[in-house]
Amino acid sequence: MKASATIHNHFDIAKIDDRLYSAFIEHMGRAIYGGIYEPSHPKANKDGFRTDVLELVRALKIPLIRYPGGNFVSAYKWEDGIGPKDKRPTRLDLAWRSKETNQVGINEFASWSEQAGIEMMLAVNLGTRGIEEARNFVEYCNHPKGSYWSDLRRKHGAELPYNVNMWCLGNEMDGPWQIGHMEAKEYGRLADETSKAIKAFSKNIETVVCGSSNDQMKTYPEWERVVLEECYENVEYISLHKYFGNSSHDSLNYFSKIDETGRYIQTVAGIIDFVKAKKRAKNEVFICFDEWNVWYHNREQDHQNIQTWDWPEAPALLEEDYNLEDALFVGGLLNEFIRRSDRVKIACIAQLVNVISPIRTINGGPAWAATIYYPYQFASLYGRGTALNVAQSGPTYDTEIAHDVNYLDIAAVVSSDKSELTIFAINRCLDQEMDINLSLLGFENVKLIEHKIIGGNSNDARKFNTCDNPHHVIPRDGKGLGVEAGSIGGKLLPFSYNLIRLSI
Ligand code: AHR
Repeated sequence: MKASATIHNHFDIAKIDDRLYSAFIEHMGRAIYGGIYEPSHPKANKDGFRTDVLELVRALKIPLIRYPGGNFVSAYKWEDGIGPKDKRPTRLDLAWRSKETNQVGINEFASWSEQAGIEMMLAVNLGTRGIEEARNFVEYCNHPKGSYWSDLRRKHGAELPYNVNMWCLGNEMDGPWQIGHMEAKEYGRLADETSKAIKAFSKNIETVVCGSSNDQMKTYPEWERVVLEECYENVEYISLHKYFGNSSHDSLNYFSKIDETGRYIQTVAGIIDFVKAKKRAKNEVFICFDEWNVWYHNREQDHQNIQTWDWPEAPALLEEDYNLEDALFVGGLLNEFIRRSDRVKIACIAQLVNVISPIRTINGGPAWAATIYYPYQFASLYGRGTALNVAQSGPTYDTEIAHDVNYLDIAAVVSSDKSELTIFAINRCLDQEMDINLSLLGFENVKLIEHKIIGGNSNDARKFNTCDNPHHVIPRDGKGLGVEAGSIGGKLLPFSYNLIRLSI
């Protein structure tokens, strides 16, 4: 199989927003308790945070983290999580039918984020609550001092405000499963008014309005149009969510869901343009893809457990064992975000620890990186700068949901200082090597810095990392790529993810 592509140094798609490599963490399962926070763990620091998890998180260089939910936020009282820990109430979380002890609240999470080197993006509850609680929450977090909520924060030990600039206006409000689910128009109105109120605190605040929970929702894409018509001028982003799976064990069909996601982005971008034109608006609205990941391995079982269990505290939930195939998928989806970085400015892998996550832990035991950790890490470390157009030609295939799907999934990024070109390339073919020839135009002194590969054999598609063997699927050095004047060529192994870093 042969594929070729041309990459030109000056044919830009867009400057990539670093926040394309953000993450999401929710109060559910063992994400917070037993994930980032476990005071009794031998590796916990004085704040009760697991340092082994912190190390794995820091190595991802995540710019922004969305918190505290998710479905959880739609019935959450943020005030339950502040003040002396022994006075905090235990509540029943209706979204995941679990007990929430509130031992971690906004102040603990702010401290964890700071230790992890990540900025916070907070979600307000627009399910059971509204403008009043949202403005109080923003005042508690952001106002310096001299008001009821800001002085309460200071009394709770946080002298300086957190200056959180990114606020999500609820979560998945289109979903009938959401507590406080709404019709598009009523949600759009509430989002508009809430956004106006919380922006009164600072001109730096930016808000994210809920788009569809996925592109299979009956209300999609009308939801986006109606919601944006209510609030376009008062928001900066519209959120999209999508989770993926391969229950039919058909890898090529699975990978084509990335093309389907491209259409989802394209459609919402079109609606943004339509509403902007209709309103004669001057502001831009971008896409914040603030929940995405693979989620299917235990989905049915988890769903049944939630229905039948007796309100457990921090139960194992949505703990997916990601395999090699999922790593290739995640690498491909990140490529799609790079290719659409003109419209997608923020994207959050959902979630970060234990719950559908690249990082896993055992209570009292080790933490390890799942297979999907590595493509996410490579994109975050080397996918910053400017996305370049890649004009490719090569073999394609058809599936039920997409036609002319490329066997070669490729994205290219030139670093901000123009010293490096990084190519992320996936050979989706299960059983054939791919001969690639990439013409590099407008670059000088091209030299290979490194070639890393994940996978390379579709017989390993279902291999995953475990606590006992965390190294089943990890990156290794690739070989066989040659750089000549103006081009790079060689073979990509079947079913492989490739990071190709070049100095220029
Ligand atoms: O990430 C798990 C759940 O998926 C989130 O709580 C919700 O927003 C989405 O449906």
